[in-house]
Amino acid sequence: MTHRDDPITPGDAPRGASQDAIEALSREDRTFPPPPGFADQANVRDPDVYERAAADPEGYWAKAARSLDWYRPWDTVLSWDPPNARWFDGGQLNVSVNCLDRHVASGHGDKVAYYWEGEPGDRTRITYAELLAEVCRCANALRGLGVGRGDKVAVYMPMILEMPIAMLACTRIGAVHTVVFGGFSAESLRDRINDAGAKLVVTADGGYRRGKPSALKVNVDDAIADGQAPSVERVLVARRTGQDVTMVEGRDIWWDEVVPRQAPECEPERMESEDPLYLLYTSGTTAKPKGIVHTTAGYLLGAAHTHRTVFDIKDDDVYWCAADIGWVTGHSYILYGPLANRTTGVMYEGTPDFPAPDRWWDIVERYRVSVLYTAPTAIRAHMKWGPQHAAGHDLSSLRLLGSVGEPINPEAWVWYHHHIGGDRCPVVDTWWQTETGAIMIAPLPGLTTTKPGSASRPLPGIEADIVDGDGNPVPPGSGGYLVVKGPWPAMLRGIHGDPERFQKTYWDRFPGTYFPGDGARRDEDGDYWLMGRVDDVMNISGHRLSTTEIESALVSHQSVAEAAVVGTPDDLTGEAIAAFVILKLGTEPSVAFGDELRQHVAAKIGPIAKPKTLLFTPDLPKTRSGKIMRRLLRDIAAGRSLGDTTTLADADVVETIRDASRAGRDEE
Ligand code: WTA
Repeated sequence: MTHRDDPITPGDAPRGASQDAIEALSREDRTFPPPPGFADQANVRDPDVYERAAADPEGYWAKAARSLDWYRPWDTVLSWDPPNARWFDGGQLNVSVNCLDRHVASGHGDKVAYYWEGEPGDRTRITYAELLAEVCRCANALRGLGVGRGDKVAVYMPMILEMPIAMLACTRIGAVHTVVFGGFSAESLRDRINDAGAKLVVTADGGYRRGKPSALKVNVDDAIADGQAPSVERVLVARRTGQDVTMVEGRDIWWDEVVPRQAPECEPERMESEDPLYLLYTSGTTAKPKGIVHTTAGYLLGAAHTHRTVFDIKDDDVYWCAADIGWVTGHSYILYGPLANRTTGVMYEGTPDFPAPDRWWDIVERYRVSVLYTAPTAIRAHMKWGPQHAAGHDLSSLRLLGSVGEPINPEAWVWYHHHIGGDRCPVVDTWWQTETGAIMIAPLPGLTTTKPGSASRPLPGIEADIVDGDGNPVPPGSGGYLVVKGPWPAMLRGIHGDPERFQKTYWDRFPGTYFPGDGARRDEDGDYWLMGRVDDVMNISGHRLSTTEIESALVSHQSVAEAAVVGTPDDLTGEAIAAFVILKLGTEPSVAFGDELRQHVAAKIGPIAKPKTLLFTPDLPKTRSGKIMRRLLRDIAAGRSLGDTTTLADADVVETIRDASRAGRDEE
């Protein structure tokens, strides 16, 4: 198997939805000015904010940072030696104190922090005072289990309250959490635990998904069995489903046996601004995921500030980000941003269509949700199920809608605006990444006239641009590479343990400038239209997956000789995974064997990485230098509507691939 490393070669065309489709959509001419009643009340109303921030970005961020609670103020706002940034050096603060203690101290202890709803229908709520007490108990328990400042803690949990509690407890004692999405396999979990060097794992017996308990503890056991994750000393297990699990003596301990008996106060660590806050692994273009490093002050500021400005958060809002905390969206916009802003949030454990497709609208109605944040994939699923499910509920509490994770197609935007937002709620399409920590490109809802499908423009304090292959800004009406020219507080500080890859992946393509890996187009008004990845990273339902990671999983099967994976446009999931597989001699291609390979990928990475289509071929098209010609494979996969099944390559496909292989063309 051949693949290229992270850097992007010039000439790569942005993709995702097809180029034509994107160009067609960025000719979209419907515009939506902020509704007057909304604009009058908005948190950000002064249109000069962009200019003022551009004239003095450090001053802009320093002013925003004064809204956090500091033990000691910073000495320097920024030291910038690309790619290394230090924000608010000399400052000291604690994240859990900013998210909890200061709200309780100012008399808001009884405010609800989360309305929590389990998939089976069980419900609870937790106030800021109660959450603080639980976090302190958990922090004391973690200290008792030998976790201290700088130690790494892996969190592999369902969407239950113990998850944010464990994460906040880490921040209280200066431990660094690394959350692994509960849908990842034991093997993925093990790789992340080992890369991070986690000392403790927090998990649960299971969680509910589509009516069934998931197997979390079993995966933890698999991940660390037989000394395969030697850094792990203890496993803390929350009880959710009550299913049978194995508890290893001396290693595993039940949450409810250790946490509740701790004291509800816990002295917080005074953290330095640049102390690491968490690691979060994300897919790059090689088989090995990258541990993105976020630090304390800048990250918290970025999450809180954007949450307040982009979602226009007010004290009486009920805010629901319908993501999983296992992804960065949940970190920044279920946990840190909302809690720092003393927001009342909703947390829901399960899937949107359980037990029925109106589950979300029932939640919005019952809690009077005013701000909803979700992904285009979810919106498209609701479109497919039909507007009658939303229409059956009172959604009049909603006042703002957000979108994240992938380009939103105008039809989905307009449907969301109309059927969910009742034509009265601004829609904010927010572009950002695990690496950026917080929203970078989005409307300011009280100021921006939005266009369905455009994320509008970089936020104040963010210096982004769209450039050609030589790094020159593209003129209005053209496409190119998205870049971020200056540092920003919530930016990643590195890739855990791999400074070279950090440099190479993000900073070498346009020296000294951050390159996120996305293509974008600028329209005549200067608005940005995101066009998807320009590298070998796919975006499936708003989740990042690496083509090479899935190829590695496929070739790890004893019967697979070679494999190539590409993303193809998909109406529901944005992109879908298509795999081309060459079998070793002696194995016959069959539909059943295709299913076995899909299962193999699920076991290696997680069910989200299962190829939707799998094609057995005798050859793979390669360039003279041995690179797989992915663009050709994408065209084949996209042009043939392969359906959901394993397919044997037909004569035409084989011929196309053979011709290309013989010619050994370089990809233009
Ligand atoms: C894509 C999720 C278009 C993009 C927060 C980025 C988007 C990757 C948008 C990051 C958007 C995210 N419009 N594309 N509004 N938001 N993306 O790290 O390709 O899981 O690079 O972070 O998702 O995915 P990640």
